Amino acid sequence: MGASMQVYRETPADWWEVEALYDLCFAPGREALSSYRLRDGVPPVADLCLLVRDAGGVMAAIRFWPVLVGGADALLLGPVAVHPTRQGEGLGGQLMYDSLNRARALGWDRVLLVGDAPYYSRFGFERLERVKMPPPTNPARVLGYALTPGAWDGVTGTTTRIAVPPKT
Ligand SMILES: CC(C)(COP(=O)(O)OP(=O)(O)OC[C@H]1O[C@@H](n2cnc3c(N)ncnc32)[C@H](O)[C@@H]1OP(=O)(O)O)[C@@H](O)C(=O)NCCC(=O)NCCS
Repeated sequence: MGASMQVYRETPADWWEVEALYDLCFAPGREALSSYRLRDGVPPVADLCLLVRDAGGVMAAIRFWPVLVGGADALLLGPVAVHPTRQGEGLGGQLMYDSLNRARALGWDRVLLVGDAPYYSRFGFERLERVKMPPPTNPARVLGYALTPGAWDGVTGTTTRIAVPPKT
């Protein structure tokens, strides 16, 4: 891994470039995944949406959404993706560590995601046996991380979309 890369907070002007990176990195139809229903109409947590750029554009990006798990506040991590030409250089790891540290500093307690345990376990994510995501989600891919000690203890149930007040 090279020297640490400058991480930027995503701005509204970056939105479509980040979307294009996600389209490139994930299978077509990613927005049909059930986790996207938790994001519909809900703004992401802007302070935690981070990216890395080089001369070729956005090379890595991570976003987070607020959700509820059994009524408790939680962060839904993702999508996170790194451009195919820059994978394996540590960019994904850097975005993970930076955003999780920022989330803790902002007072969030817990994070969940749907993803590959072999990758996310290195950041401390563990299977959440008693948390349900909207079907169809493979329960083995529902992973959580406590930003504060014990933050997942006793937090169980279904993950739901937060209520967003209508725009006035
Ligand atoms: C997964 C992803 C975000 C990782 O970012 P990255 O910058 O390539 O990763 P890093 O350089 O920080 O870490 C690389 C390590 O992660 C491992 N890794 C990457 N994807 C993995 C996966 N799906 N499962 C297990 N390990 C994985 C690599 O083998 C490598 O391991 P090593 O450190 O033992 O050599 C990136 O590869 C990506 O965008 N992939 C396609 C989109 C995707 O699948 N995103 C979400 C995964 S659920």
